[in-house]
Amino acid sequence: MSTQIEETLVLVKPDGVARNLSGEILRRIEAKGYSLVDVKLVEPDRSLLAAHYAEHEGKPFFEPLVEFMESGAVLALRIAGERVIEGFRALAGTTDPTTAAPGTIRGDLGRDWGGKVQQNLVHGSDSPESAARELALWFD
Ligand code: PPS
Repeated sequence: MSTQIEETLVLVKPDGVARNLSGEILRRIEAKGYSLVDVKLVEPDRSLLAAHYAEHEGKPFFEPLVEFMESGAVLALRIAGERVIEGFRALAGTTDPTTAAPGTIRGDLGRDWGGKVQQNLVHGSDSPESAARELALWFD
């Protein structure tokens, strides 16, 4: 059985860009075998971020997350490959960088910075529906 090529949205968050980790993160994506389809440096405004994180509105972390994402440049990537949506999430590691597994982007490159879990270097879409919606928001 063959699997179809998918696309997903990856964001290198402001902490990743500020710490000059964009190249290292791109290297890991390419080393895994995924293709870079499009790339864009963005300074996202509140309306883009509110739409992007709409499902989390009302949660206690929503406001700090949006404020953090507004605080600096974000590198948006459109990447492609078979099962890239779940594959990139595995490459990124779990949400909290302190406990993300070694070998993952968050596990190797992230840590606790004053309890700010939102500073976890990358975002990856979590489903085909999210990927389509988020790619349209950031690239179309
Ligand atoms: S959830 O509630 O299970 O859907 O949460 P999760 O998928 O882990 O995370 C959703 C996004 O919120 C960020 N997040 C946080 N930010 C700040 N503080 C806390 N405590 C926190 N918990 C989760 C998390 O990084 C996700 O954002 P992205 O941009 O996708 O990484």
